[in-house]
Amino acid sequence: MTLNSSSTFLLQFHIRMHNGQSYSLDFREKAPALAGRNMYLDSSANVIKRKSLDGIMACAVPGSVMGMYEAHKRFGKISWSQLLQPAINLAENGFTLSKTEARKLNRFAALFTKINDPEPAFLLSKTGWKEGDIFINNAMAQTLKLIRDHQADGFYKGITAQKIIAVMNRYGGLISANDLENYRALWRPVINGQYHQLKIISMGPPSSGGILLVQMLSLLQDYPLKQWLWNSARTVQLITEIERRVYADRSKYLGDPDYYHVPVETLLSTDYLHSRMNNYHTDRATESSRIGAGSIPVSEKEETTHFSIVDPEGNAVAVTTTLNGSYGSKVVVSGAGFLLNNEMDDFSIKPGYPNTYGLLGSEANAIEPEKRMLSSMTPTIVEKNGALWMVTGTPGGSTIITSVLQSILNVADFGMNMQQSVSALKFHHQWKPDTIFTERGALLPADSLALSRMGYHLLNRSPIGRLDGILILPSGKLEAGADPRGEDFAIGF
Ligand code: DON
Repeated sequence: MTLNSSSTFLLQFHIRMHNGQSYSLDFREKAPALAGRNMYLDSSANVIKRKSLDGIMACAVPGSVMGMYEAHKRFGKISWSQLLQPAINLAENGFTLSKTEARKLNRFAALFTKINDPEPAFLLSKTGWKEGDIFINNAMAQTLKLIRDHQADGFYKGITAQKIIAVMNRYGGLISANDLENYRALWRPVINGQYHQLKIISMGPPSSGGILLVQMLSLLQDYPLKQWLWNSARTVQLITEIERRVYADRSKYLGDPDYYHVPVETLLSTDYLHSRMNNYHTDRATESSRIGAGSIPVSEKEETTHFSIVDPEGNAVAVTTTLNGSYGSKVVVSGAGFLLNNEMDDFSIKPGYPNTYGLLGSEANAIEPEKRMLSSMTPTIVEKNGALWMVTGTPGGSTIITSVLQSILNVADFGMNMQQSVSALKFHHQWKPDTIFTERGALLPADSLALSRMGYHLLNRSPIGRLDGILILPSGKLEAGADPRGEDFAIGF
């Protein structure tokens, strides 16, 4: 993206213009107006398995097109149609599938067929997709042309909207023409924080990412991490205890700020944060069952992608955007060439019932008509001594926030460059389950043993995060880090 003046977004879109001014755009999906608190429960109030994840009821009102349009309207330099043309060409002429993409499409083929009638031909290959096959999506090209010619109205009104409504009618979904027409992307206050001489600029509610990141970094400032070394038992223990506490706060206090009073100021205040560490012991684990959210008086009112960009003028953009799970709800809007999200699962569908990432929630993130569901997306921009220093972010559900934290600490405290920081093995704790998840090899056996002896439960898991970051070196040169866990790459123009 190119920007028209000297100066930051976040989203789920965060931009810092080279004059130091930052902006954050929320194009988070919304619950349909007909959504209700118990829509995923049966008559005995039990959760109906996967209803919030697969199929029509999982879909929330889409936000991405409006987000891109709004960002362009405010900061775009080249024309909207020029901006869309490369995507139209890719949809029309096709692109070459990688091995991972081919395998993933084949893995989901049965589900695409089960959920959609007629079958979404463009997603299926009779002989099975192979690496090197050309993936063409003519219907998507038509949709993109409508968006090119009619801006956001090309999606939220007219033919595309009618196609979305036709799918809703066919399967009994809740999204209405009004829901689409009324969708707005919103400019939100950015979340600011401090870590030594670094200024953190990140995404506020309805994302939990910025607040949790700033809470963690504020607490970490009091400890000599550099001296304790990267992923040593001490370092991992401290970070785990901090992660446990902030994720407990997330479950209680964070939600859509338009529906729930999120006590941002208290959550970020030094006194509150220090009080949360009163029961931290350097020699043993604090069990999550003994940690709740902090006590804050509350008044009554109340398939993820990340990219980081820095342009020649020094403007920086961090964007994280998502359908939630792989291929979202797997519902294809027939004739329009795209899938709908399954973002509804990011709500707390029943108090105490974990979402697909194991995250818990309550009132703050309960389903309400037209409310935005809580996110973990953490597009982040960091300044050092007033100048742009790092742009970072990642997919990964609940692990997004702790991965972004590690991407910053790895450079600020542990002397890594951007690529090393992105590639470095990661760990993650989210309060519940009470487990330190680790990538295989992230901790030395002696450190794992020391932590087990202190009472921690450690578990190896699949790769954590797919970070993409840019570091601005003192010389002004840009150093990029693209995550080897995915097919990510860094490119300069
Ligand atoms: O907004 C959120 O927090 C989730 N919907 C993000 C999902 C995600 O990162 C999936 N990618 N791995």
